[in-house]
Amino acid sequence: MADDLNDVTDDETNESSEAQIAVHWREENYYEPPAALTAQANASDPAIRDQFTEDKFPDCFTAYADLLTWYKPWDTVLDTSTAPFWKWFVGGELNASYNCVDRHIETHPNKAALIWLPEPESEAHQAITYRELYVRVNEFAAVLKELGLKAGDRITFHMPMVPELPVAMLAAARLGVVHSQVFAGFSGTAAGHRIADSGSTVLVTMDGYYRSGDLLDHKVKADEAVEAAAKEGQHVDTVLVFRRYPGQYSAKTPMVEGRDVFVDDLLAAHKGEIVEPARLSATDPLFLMYTSGTTGRPKGCQHSIGGYMSYVAGTSKYYQDIHPDDTYWCMADIGWITGHSYIVYGPLALGTTSVMYEGTPNYPDAGRPWRIAQQLGVNIFHTSPTAIRMLRKVGPDEPAKYNYHFKTMTTVGEPIEPEVWRWYYETVGKREAAITDTWWQTETGGFLGSTLPGVDKMKPGSCGPAALGIYPVILDEDSNEVPKGSGKAGNICIRAPWPGVFQTIWGQPDRFVSTYYAKYNKDPESKDWHDWPYFAGDGALEAADGYFRILGRVDDVINVAGHRLGTKELESAALTVSEVAEAAAVPVIDDIRGRAVEMYISLKPGVEASADVENKVKVAIETDIGKIARPKNIWIVPDMPKTRSGKIMRRVIAATSNFTDTGDITTLANPEVVDKIREQVQSAKRAKGEVPRELSETEEHEIKSFGQE
Ligand code: WTA
Repeated sequence: MADDLNDVTDDETNESSEAQIAVHWREENYYEPPAALTAQANASDPAIRDQFTEDKFPDCFTAYADLLTWYKPWDTVLDTSTAPFWKWFVGGELNASYNCVDRHIETHPNKAALIWLPEPESEAHQAITYRELYVRVNEFAAVLKELGLKAGDRITFHMPMVPELPVAMLAAARLGVVHSQVFAGFSGTAAGHRIADSGSTVLVTMDGYYRSGDLLDHKVKADEAVEAAAKEGQHVDTVLVFRRYPGQYSAKTPMVEGRDVFVDDLLAAHKGEIVEPARLSATDPLFLMYTSGTTGRPKGCQHSIGGYMSYVAGTSKYYQDIHPDDTYWCMADIGWITGHSYIVYGPLALGTTSVMYEGTPNYPDAGRPWRIAQQLGVNIFHTSPTAIRMLRKVGPDEPAKYNYHFKTMTTVGEPIEPEVWRWYYETVGKREAAITDTWWQTETGGFLGSTLPGVDKMKPGSCGPAALGIYPVILDEDSNEVPKGSGKAGNICIRAPWPGVFQTIWGQPDRFVSTYYAKYNKDPESKDWHDWPYFAGDGALEAADGYFRILGRVDDVINVAGHRLGTKELESAALTVSEVAEAAAVPVIDDIRGRAVEMYISLKPGVEASADVENKVKVAIETDIGKIARPKNIWIVPDMPKTRSGKIMRRVIAATSNFTDTGDITTLANPEVVDKIREQVQSAKRAKGEVPRELSETEEHEIKSFGQE
């Protein structure tokens, strides 16, 4: 046994050195930022970087904090005394709701804060002015107050893309109640786990919403969520139900007496009520945003009020180039960090008009986004590579039919392939707009790597240089710096803290340190930030020009359509099916969604493979996580390829699913199973016409090293 373990250790050392293999890719041409954009840009001069050089750290970030209105200014910009739990703007007091709403009604009360487009085109869009937003936020804050919620309490939202969601967020922020919005596409059970983890007693939901033409019953998920939370010992007292059509109930699921209340009924009692914004400390939490990691338990990333708000305001100004008169549309969902930072908090802090769309981008046809852009005069557009790939596939010529003009276009969440980038630039942007490819994470609050749209040349496939005040470094497994231009990949880390960085994982401070800071820390007692590089969990390389190319996750996370799914979460869901003995989730390259999930299942002795078991696994995943996690294929195999210590070799099955070479299998305890699985899976995929295109070198690298951390 001891020998076996040694074998495995050796084996893994060899594997991790693979992370350093040279990654060659064709250097793309540069594209110049459009002159008209530069002429009006908030950042138009490269000299802006001089204000954010390392010798000016951390004071450089007061330029971002100064974009906000503070009740009391901070005493200390950055306090490192509880490293790596960084504290920004200590001593300062402010309120996020005041900054996004109240202060704008003094200067432009009648300007639209939000423009909401329902999915059915027969329903008119709604413009909500700053004045109206103020009224709605105050009234909902009064409702929350009446429920007894106060600063520091947590509240869970499971809301679709409707204006009631930002209203609810800003109402909670007004009181200092920490909100946790769960993406509406997640299942009720997934929402329930997050309710339990955060200790919420109130759930806010909606009866229904439109998705691809259907009015979905969303209320049913609230019942599942409350039940799942109860199983974990968390009791939900109140479920607040917004109605998609006030006064008319759109769900089939009955309301639960004594627990479920229609919000429109409650609001009637608080008409015109004003709730003074609470004076909160800069280091108080603003919200939790759950994300997946290497264990089954999701991580509640806790963001601060002062640091987070400063960072999203500053990056919205310089990287989204938001001016007060712009019409800005981010097509992401507010259920993800992108929507929090760059639909709600950043744009509204700057007092601009932020567009929200309820439905799917290609409903009723692939021209919808461009029609919306034309109709509303959108001039800043923001979306994901998955949406771009999909719109390119279903409507490559649609953008040309509409008269709109973007000045900047953002992409976020996944690497964008150069040919998709070029379609975005030439066809969607009509060669008039800069593309900002923004690399960042739920944990980081805002952008870490991106070009400044009016300043920097763009290079397809690279996110660009580090954002202002961000100092990345690429480290190998032995903590050596991988020099730029070396053509070698490594782990991208950020050397110094920044205001947008999350404060901790809710309720799991040890996991916070071990996941994000322990890897390259040499002295756990150190109070010096230089000793605590932030480990992002992404592989990357830095070209000679200082541009970063992000290769993807180095942990057991699969990025499906820009959404992080943990292999452990997928596997635990599959293991709830009684017939299943073992489960392994791997990524498969997908032309639209970037990656899709494939599940490999082995059954308990005596159980026969059947479509019924397959279906049970599918249902289990949809119930536990949600439809976004639905596997592309479920393969019931005779056995899993395993090391002698019993660890499933995910890279071997990932290679099988993607038709690439399985690499060295001599360390497997059961190498003979590899050929069997390959024959089974690949012939079935060939029959279905699912042979993937040839993988790029970086994709090949990702697949071959999947699950090796
Ligand atoms: C990936 C989304 C390449 C990366 C804001 C990261 C990207 C994870 C990019 C975070 C990009 C994000 N290019 N990859 N521009 N942006 N990623 O937490 O692997 O949902 O770690 O935050 O998405 O996903 P998250």
